[in-house]
Amino acid sequence: MSASDEDAVRVLRAGGLVILPTETVYGLAADAGNAAAVAAIFAAKGRPRFNPLIAHVADLLGAEAVAELNEAARALAEAFWPGPLTIVAPARAGDAVCDLARAGLDSIAVRVPGHPRARAVLSAFGGPVVAPSANRSGRPSPTTFADAVEETGFAAAGAIDGGACVVGVESTVVSVMDGRIALLRPGSVTRAEIEAQVGPLAAGGEGRRSPGRLTLHYAPDAPVRIEAEAAGAGEILLGFGPGAGDPRWSLSPAGDLREAAANLFRMLREADRERPAGIAVSPIPDEGLGEAINDRLRRAAGFTG
Ligand code: TXA
Ligand code: MG
Repeated sequence: MSASDEDAVRVLRAGGLVILPTETVYGLAADAGNAAAVAAIFAAKGRPRFNPLIAHVADLLGAEAVAELNEAARALAEAFWPGPLTIVAPARAGDAVCDLARAGLDSIAVRVPGHPRARAVLSAFGGPVVAPSANRSGRPSPTTFADAVEETGFAAAGAIDGGACVVGVESTVVSVMDGRIALLRPGSVTRAEIEAQVGPLAAGGEGRRSPGRLTLHYAPDAPVRIEAEAAGAGEILLGFGPGAGDPRWSLSPAGDLREAAANLFRMLREADRERPAGIAVSPIPDEGLGEAINDRLRRAAGFTG
């Protein structure tokens, strides 16, 4: 059963967890200032406590209440919020976001999501809400209501059905700290779109500064093989572009990166349910949104770092 926005706000205020739709993926949400509720998120996901959460807020003002945004951060916020961009910036002192949510760091990740239901809940709640992707740790993020409920619904006192997530991969994470602007996680706001706003991004190795990027991630049960030209014995091939495998299993028959991103996690899950010997995936161009898709696929295939 899908909760109303008002139900969800009541649950958050009472310290409960809510399955919350965003335009990227479904989140498992809690009041960022309630340490017990935040601890329940880590427990439900089986998430290591060194991995900090993103604070979701209704608008720029809400972000400035918890983070120190410099000129570059504000330019990014204005260009891409509401939308699939997360900014990592120095945290402001205060208890609106508890220590555990930030994993004890002096920085904080903030984002203003674009999904109308998430926006309505955040506006009515009036403070920061932490929401990691609603999967159990290490599994593909859920992009449908059913998948989110299957992953962590057991821990949620409320769940909002916001339909299928239109973006399908998690937000782009950009850190704006100490005069350096770095891409910590590629997402649907592309490198080129960010550089058009703030100039060249710092080069290389920044992934290591995002604690959540150190571990195997996004993996279904079946082994994943990337850059595959064809399905091997017992494998399902997730195709990309015309003529690549069975159209039933194509991420995008036309070779459209937005469509492929929107289908990616749902199709990985669907393929996994068939219990194949493996999941093979066609090559996907590494430009634009392809950078985020290939990042998730490499991690699903077991490459880290
Ligand atoms: O699209 C999204 O961002 C989704 C939806 C639900 O909003 N949320 C999401 O949250 O993907 P999560 O927890 O699955 O991923 C957050 C990422 C992790 O890699 C985490 O390590 C990183 O953001 N992160 C959070 N706070 C950080 C910080 N202070 N410094 C560096 N990285 C941080
Ligand atoms: Mg996640």
